[in-house]
Amino acid sequence: MIPDSFIEELKYASPVEQIIASYVTLKRAGTRLTGLCPFHSEKTPSFTVFADGQNYYCFGCGKGGDVITFIRDIENLGYVDAIRFLAGKAGLTVPEDAESNREAKQRARILEMNRLAARYFHEQLRSDTGRAARQYLLGRGLTGKTIRRFGIGYAPDTWDSLRNHLRQKGFSDADMQSAGLVKPGKSGNSYDVFRARVIFPIIDLRGAVIAFGGRLMQGEGPKYLNSSDTPVFRKSRNLFALNYAKAANSDTLILGEGYMDVIAMHQAGLENAVATLGTSLTPEQSRLIAQYAKKVVIAYDSDKAGQDATKRAINLFNQTGVSVSVLSMEGAKDPDEYIQKHGADGFDRLVGASKSAVDFEVGKLKAQHNLADPESRVQFLNAFCRLMADIQNDIVREVYIGSMAEQLKIGREGIASSVNTLRKQGFRATKKREAHNLVTSVQDNLGTTDKRQGKLGANADIASLAAQEQLIMILMRHPDFYSAISGKLSPEDFGDSGLRDIFSAISERLSSSLPIEPIHLSGMLQPREMGKLTGLLVKSRELEFYKTQIDDFINTIKKAQGKKSAQELSEMSPEEYSRYINSLRTGKK
Ligand code: GTP
Ligand code: MN
Repeated sequence: MIPDSFIEELKYASPVEQIIASYVTLKRAGTRLTGLCPFHSEKTPSFTVFADGQNYYCFGCGKGGDVITFIRDIENLGYVDAIRFLAGKAGLTVPEDAESNREAKQRARILEMNRLAARYFHEQLRSDTGRAARQYLLGRGLTGKTIRRFGIGYAPDTWDSLRNHLRQKGFSDADMQSAGLVKPGKSGNSYDVFRARVIFPIIDLRGAVIAFGGRLMQGEGPKYLNSSDTPVFRKSRNLFALNYAKAANSDTLILGEGYMDVIAMHQAGLENAVATLGTSLTPEQSRLIAQYAKKVVIAYDSDKAGQDATKRAINLFNQTGVSVSVLSMEGAKDPDEYIQKHGADGFDRLVGASKSAVDFEVGKLKAQHNLADPESRVQFLNAFCRLMADIQNDIVREVYIGSMAEQLKIGREGIASSVNTLRKQGFRATKKREAHNLVTSVQDNLGTTDKRQGKLGANADIASLAAQEQLIMILMRHPDFYSAISGKLSPEDFGDSGLRDIFSAISERLSSSLPIEPIHLSGMLQPREMGKLTGLLVKSRELEFYKTQIDDFINTIKKAQGKKSAQELSEMSPEEYSRYINSLRTGKK
């Protein structure tokens, strides 16, 4: 455990509003700061930072917590690593602890195994075993130089050759399993994950091999196989070839779909190409790209799936501030094929001619409508206005509205005013959804309980659930009331597992007279529970608490008598919900 004394130091050195401001553009709204949530896609800000309580909460998606929880989620780090990350920024040194030492050693061991595996695969490709794979790669147009540069390899068609190789180097099967290189078999022996595949090592910015992608040349099975997530690799947070692309020192990155596309682009001289790793672009990856580039060119496949993915990627990039353009490719499935057909120069021209993301979408709309036909023209304009309403940048919006008005020979005011109406509607819809989410957080808990039990049992008792929430809110606000609760209620009395964990963590600290600000609890709770806890803290801001309520709540939990069904609760307005909660507290209906 990290000692409390250090957490206190870290707390003063890492104000939550300052740390978050380096990831999210925050605007002041009274005592709060708000911005677009970095954890889900939204157009009006639901993400709220409370400097006074040193916590944050998103009314849209329910993420929340203290500064450590934020770093865990946004940087995808464990608790100890998140603390190290913050300490590093603040110039503090984390006191050594056995646990983190063990984790660091395990990571180092995994990286060493990956390095040896990459070298082994590469040697196999060069040997007799790799003859067919070599021919396959040369047949696809890769040069020997490219193969060496990317460290491409071949995993032999056997169940145990890498395993035996790594055993010889002194690694245990358990080690190899933690690296995701082997899996435990029924016989007790581990077997190789990558078999009979061309291997693409995935290398991070330090030059360490963190994972592998493998392509089947023939036969049955998934075409591509990627390493599973390990302590050194998160698929959602890494990009293929970013190590080379960063070294190319360009202010633009080209984003492709596949390994082969990226390798072909590099070979064609476009060394600023990267790709996601067998998943569609994630918010983390879009931020990673924005960290290294001002501009991104999306070069996805030309098929329907690729174009749909392009749209989703544009939406993600719009939240990062990076400017986006889109490559339109005709007569070829993907960049690799285009380069094969038209050469490096042909592809280079394509990149030069890539259109801005808005042009891309307007172009698609135009293609779907016949502008000579009045009815279709109106439909087109409506769709165009919806597209414009989504653009956050006022100037960009004005420019496009102006140019469309000109093209269609109609007044710009008409277009501008319907775009404004749409923008206001969108804003109201978001606000309404937030209010709903706040009220139904109780409901969500119920949903999971219901499924498990199949009926409304004791755990699902809505009144009890509300009382459980209220007790936690009371304790967070008045820790000194703990004596009135301890001994009367134990964590087991909390039917909801999230609330149980929260109560258990709070009790553990309060029974030793330790403080219970969110930052003190974040080492004991998962980010999910931290979100729930800060959600309750936000709710509790509107409420008053009295010590005399405690016995009522305890009785309600003990009796666990449901007074409203889940359905009824979900249909309540925020006002009705507050009235209902208050009636529970006073014991009246
Ligand atoms: P080639 O056929 O070798 O040219 O690959 P490609 O990149 O053109 O393939 P495709 O467009 O089918 O796939 C694009 C990317 O999606 C690949 O590079 C992989 O990262 C991923 N992918 C494709 N097929 C699979 C699969 O079966 N499983 C997984 N996990 N990922 C896949
Ligand atoms: Mn391809």
